[in-house]
Amino acid sequence: MTVLGLSCYYHDAAAALVRDGRLVAAAHEERFTRKRHDPDFPYQAIAYCLQEAGISIDDVDYIGFYDKPFTKLDRILQTYFATWPRSYPSFIKAMPVWINEKMWVPQTIRKKLNFKGEILFCDHHMSHAASAFLVSPFKEAAILTLDGVGEWDTTTYGYGQGNNIRLLKTIHFPHSLGLFYSAFTYYLGFKVNSAEYKVMGLAPFGQPAFYDLIMKELVDLKDDGSFKLNMKYFSYDYGLKMTNSRFDQLFGFPRRKPESEITKFHQDVASSLQKVTEDIVLKMANHLYKETGLKNLCLAGGVALNCLANSRILKETPFKELFIQPGSSDAGGAVGVAAYVYYTLLNNQRKFVWKDAYLGPGYSQAEIKDFLIRKGICFKEYNGQELLKITARLLSEQNIIGWYQGRMEFGPRSLGNRSILADPRRGENKDRVNQKVKYRETFRPFAPSILWEKAKGYFEIDRESPFMLLTFKVKSREIPAVTHVDNSARLQTVKREENELFYDLLSEFYSLTGCPALLNTSFNLRGEPIVCTPEEAYLSFMRSGMDYLILGNYVLDKKEMAPLLEVFAYEKLFAQD
Ligand SMILES: [Fe+2]
Repeated sequence: MTVLGLSCYYHDAAAALVRDGRLVAAAHEERFTRKRHDPDFPYQAIAYCLQEAGISIDDVDYIGFYDKPFTKLDRILQTYFATWPRSYPSFIKAMPVWINEKMWVPQTIRKKLNFKGEILFCDHHMSHAASAFLVSPFKEAAILTLDGVGEWDTTTYGYGQGNNIRLLKTIHFPHSLGLFYSAFTYYLGFKVNSAEYKVMGLAPFGQPAFYDLIMKELVDLKDDGSFKLNMKYFSYDYGLKMTNSRFDQLFGFPRRKPESEITKFHQDVASSLQKVTEDIVLKMANHLYKETGLKNLCLAGGVALNCLANSRILKETPFKELFIQPGSSDAGGAVGVAAYVYYTLLNNQRKFVWKDAYLGPGYSQAEIKDFLIRKGICFKEYNGQELLKITARLLSEQNIIGWYQGRMEFGPRSLGNRSILADPRRGENKDRVNQKVKYRETFRPFAPSILWEKAKGYFEIDRESPFMLLTFKVKSREIPAVTHVDNSARLQTVKREENELFYDLLSEFYSLTGCPALLNTSFNLRGEPIVCTPEEAYLSFMRSGMDYLILGNYVLDKKEMAPLLEVFAYEKLFAQD
């Protein structure tokens, strides 16, 4: 039995393939089209999933779509009419896309994919809930989904048992924790649905000086975590902007111009927003615990990528175990709907636990070598332990390394297969990687990957963190390049069964230096999706200050490379993130 899950038309389009209950492939469309957060129909991600499974579309029994387009259109039209005529510019912009494309999901699937099987639609938040619970290690768990908006829902409280999920309570648009966070992201001069994680990274630099103001004026929060936003300050329900002039007046400053200076005011706003968000999530989680009495929690939706909030749930609520899958925003909806069709609708017993993120395309050593020879690129070949020894030595000599191995990660985090690596023991490596390699803002923190067995020596850690979705306090002074200003780190713990080669590299670095961690950031330049092919890895390597590129077993030394015949400006090549 084969089910293809699809998510698209909002942001982060993706496809996922479930075969006999196992998730065998999943990928974001952006990784193929090279357009960050690409929302369009995921033709290339679908083609990849089929190719990975070695099947054609005729072998797919069901296609599941991650939301219900007509219910969503109903919400959009009702909102436009309720806010008319202020909504006119947004209406004019949105309607042609709905009329030409978004309304015709089944027709697109039939015509463009030539699919003859059954097409099923799932509520957006059910897709989120399924993407966490049905592939979690729990037989029974409470479920909290939090995002910008699906059809009408922005938050759901629920629980799952076996292959069934019940959503008990919802919060409706326009009252949305995701859109609330995005509104501040917009106000702080960052890109909505893209740079929310930058705001989260900025928050620890400030003080929550505006916390009381936000709670008094913007949010009406109840004890059960339900809330209403004061919509007189927001314009996302009718306009093309997220906040309005009243919002500016409330905080005393206009919206920060993108790329302009970040001041203490911006840091304090980010800090206040983060604290409000965390406190709302905590109230929700506490209420859900009270309602369900369950010790396990599954979180999903874009807000579940907020690792500071996630960590506070574990510290400050009675929940004992937490499962969040690596692509918990809308891309994960593709996995969710596929799992929902297979397990819930077709009533199959659960038998799969989502343990690693390596679900994307991979290239064989022969394919990589063929690429290098074809392009006339100079390389050295090493095998097994020798490759690990050389890489560890180069890292210890303060080289910044592009590490490209195996299948690409699903979700926004690089977890050791499409990673840029550096020595975490030198604080200056943070600035080197931010400025010379990724061309990004200096305040942005980097995360460490660490051998699971050694993690307790470096962090106040009581559980694994395989997907970099939790933060922990740093105990050691040995790794300043990956210690954030608040003395925390959003880390990846690595076990050998999760990623053998990356684990062995960490072990080799540990043997050489006594440090079991590496700075690990996604293999992309600013605004670029994570590299997918060997050629994209090579181009990003050449366009940045990386010193070496390890493509499979092949080592490329920047000093031996002929320069690219191009005038490179990342701002022109990739849209700003
Ligand atoms: Fe969503």
